[in-house]
Amino acid sequence: MSETMTALFGGAGPDWESRRVPVPEPGPGQVLVRARAVAVNEADISMLDRADPASGGSGEPYLAGFEFAGEVAALGDGVDDAEVGERVMGTTPRSFAQYVLADHRHLARVPGEIGFEEAAALPTGLLTEHGSLQLGGFAPGQTVLITAGTSGIGLIGVQMAKALGARSVLATTRSADKHQLLRRAGADVVVNTTTQNLAEVVLDATGGQGVDLVLDHVAGQTFADCLPATRVDGHVVNIGRLDRAASTIDIDALSYRHLRLIGVSFGFTRAEELGQVIAGLAPEVLPAVASGEIRATIDSTFELTQAAQAAARIRGGQAQGKIVLSLS
Ligand SMILES: NC(=O)c1ccc[n+]([C@@H]2O[C@H](COP(=O)([O-])OP(=O)(O)OC[C@H]3O[C@@H](n4cnc5c(N)ncnc54)[C@H](OP(=O)(O)O)[C@@H]3O)[C@@H](O)[C@H]2O)c1
Repeated sequence: MSETMTALFGGAGPDWESRRVPVPEPGPGQVLVRARAVAVNEADISMLDRADPASGGSGEPYLAGFEFAGEVAALGDGVDDAEVGERVMGTTPRSFAQYVLADHRHLARVPGEIGFEEAAALPTGLLTEHGSLQLGGFAPGQTVLITAGTSGIGLIGVQMAKALGARSVLATTRSADKHQLLRRAGADVVVNTTTQNLAEVVLDATGGQGVDLVLDHVAGQTFADCLPATRVDGHVVNIGRLDRAASTIDIDALSYRHLRLIGVSFGFTRAEELGQVIAGLAPEVLPAVASGEIRATIDSTFELTQAAQAAARIRGGQAQGKIVLSLS
């Protein structure tokens, strides 16, 4: 194993900067993974923008990235649930590097024959959408609304809800040319929030009752619009703030419907709890990935040297699915 590796750092400008740094050594409970692919999330871009000194950011250098797939290269003390050479995918800060250090609880074996580029694009979506379905009390036969269903993780949520037995999945986009993307993922009803009233369409589609569960990736006005679109005793889980974090809600819609509002941020979850969320994928979700019922939708793949192009594609809002950086 080489003593240094290439890694992408934020904090130097509008794009990541490639640097040579020492390969880390796994400590107790950690696994060192030779990364073959990493995937870009919206959080990577907002972190990069916030750190850019030219836009008032801190200029503090940090090794970027959150998700990855590759082969186990070395084990730290006390790790007995992984083997050197095993194909794994996982989540950890500092994943945009040739070698990634991760907590052994934050890895899963790559299911079936899935390639590294697709595997790298799965962990954040799988754990976030499944963790949110569970917190929202999801049960087979329910109706689920997924806002920004076209986001990288939303597309996984649409497929997952269907694979786990949702009666009907409704999903939103702001853009007419992404309707087919949502249909292909399995959405029964597509709501275009630019041209349609979200609550009206959802109530129409659910016999006036509203959905059992909302997975909201948008916040802002969309979060407020989800409340009257949710049935009595239903759950609304906020996952993302693609629009804005502030939302003015109608308390009547909340209280008369006895709604339960839940917020999640798995990136800030304690290591043990995140491990439990990832372990929770094993019984149903990983088999559905292996059988092809849940797939990562890959928009495009770039080499690590083309990371600026990847960031530009996400900033431009053109991506239809996840963007992957290959390290093969
Ligand atoms: N809670 C957690 O633990 C957790 C974990 C991971 C991600 N997240 C959050 O989940 C969200 C999705 O993440 P991602 O990486 O999957 O995102 P992404 O793939 O970059 O999402 C892109 C899509 O978001 C939609 N979008 C962008 N701005 C919007 C706006 N102002 N209003 C409505 N829709 C908008 C667009 O869809 P259309 O063009 O179709 O409208 C766009 O195609 C982010 O907010 C992220 O921070 C949270």
